[in-house]
Amino acid sequence: MIGSGGREHALSWKLSQSTKVDTVFTAPGNGGTLNNVSIDVNDLDGLADFAQKNNCFTVVGPEDPLAAGIVDKFNKKNLKVFGPSQKAAQLESSKIWAKDFMKRNDIPTARFEIFENAQKAIEYVKSLDYNVVVKADGLAAGKGVIVCNSNDEAISAIQTILVKKTFGDAGNRIIIEERIDGIEASYIALSDGDVAIPMASSQDHKRIFDNDEGPNTGGMGAYSPTPIIDDSLAKIIQEQIIEKTIHAMKAEGILFKGFLYAGIMIRDGKPFVLEYNVRMGDPECQPITMRMDFDLFDYFVASVDGNLSSLPPALWKSQSAVCVVLASKGYPESYSKNDEITGFDSVPDGAMVFHAGTKKSDGKIFSNGGRVMGVTALGDTLNSAIKNAYAASEKISWSHKFNRKDIGQKGLSYL
Ligand code: AMP
Ligand code: GLY
Repeated sequence: MIGSGGREHALSWKLSQSTKVDTVFTAPGNGGTLNNVSIDVNDLDGLADFAQKNNCFTVVGPEDPLAAGIVDKFNKKNLKVFGPSQKAAQLESSKIWAKDFMKRNDIPTARFEIFENAQKAIEYVKSLDYNVVVKADGLAAGKGVIVCNSNDEAISAIQTILVKKTFGDAGNRIIIEERIDGIEASYIALSDGDVAIPMASSQDHKRIFDNDEGPNTGGMGAYSPTPIIDDSLAKIIQEQIIEKTIHAMKAEGILFKGFLYAGIMIRDGKPFVLEYNVRMGDPECQPITMRMDFDLFDYFVASVDGNLSSLPPALWKSQSAVCVVLASKGYPESYSKNDEITGFDSVPDGAMVFHAGTKKSDGKIFSNGGRVMGVTALGDTLNSAIKNAYAASEKISWSHKFNRKDIGQKGLSYL
């Protein structure tokens, strides 16, 4: 398993339950993952050497090594690896590539224009009678997207990305697109290049504070399933977005294998793609994984081998799952590290503590990042899953612990 977040801890936990898996190694892993190997996610040669020596089937968690071509490199060495090729990963690594792809394949997304020149971008914004979102083209650790409430905000966003170069070369070109006001949800599928099996639906909570206030983060909590995506909407998203994407990629000569994540905005019952990711969502992965009633390893192997359609349908626990992210105060800006974390022994059975920004030293666990862990629990209803996840979260403590208090409430209020 390549990566060090809560997503990777959750996937490793699930894979380690497979009778076909002897050992899960995690590179570089965190304070909760087993068999950590200290190789950086961007050291592709080091990872390939390790995989070769240890006869590994490799699963790539985060986007950076995918965008750098880890799958192509492993394939050249005949190493089995789950995830999309570098070309397929362009759906995430270049937002402009993804927007052009959606436009030419008639996949629903916000209308947009592309700019390199700040003056032209500003003139364009002034000519519009709707609000916009300004996006840096390249990977910017989830920060290169500025949602604007006025022309002035849009102009300052253009300057931040194109003139001040706050996101470096990722901001050499920008997208200016219509702001779509609606309800946001995550739709993730697993593909072998031909067919795509939907994962359970989920909803993230991207803002730092309750009621979706404050700056965007990597995600402060998630739950699955979400009532926002009912069966008929799921069918529309599956057919008109996911399958259309996989088939159009294939028609363009690119097999998309791996997790395809569509960030969806629903306005007036109609879904629009805000972004693609070419990996599992984090923290969506944690509740989704807890609801899996199948051997995930089989599905990863079938994705790589191109025979997903030969597997039985993926079964899901009917229960809800909720993940509450425990962060360090100050995240997503500056925060302290190296606080000792206690209380793990008091977490009730059944709840899972998926580590993210933690490290282990002398048998103790210390904070080591902004999002520190995701406490995840099942429940017969969304309401009971929320209660179980918060009851478990309260057992964990450290001096700068911070978490949202309203994870899952968006789903309850929708119900
Ligand atoms: P992205 O990284 O493209 O998903 O953008 C980050 C966040 O910005 C999304 O999760 C949305 O909340 C918001 N966002 C992105 N594009 C739009 C849009 N066209 N309209 C409204 N909100 C958007
Ligand atoms: N939770 C949002 C993401 O993984 O991109």
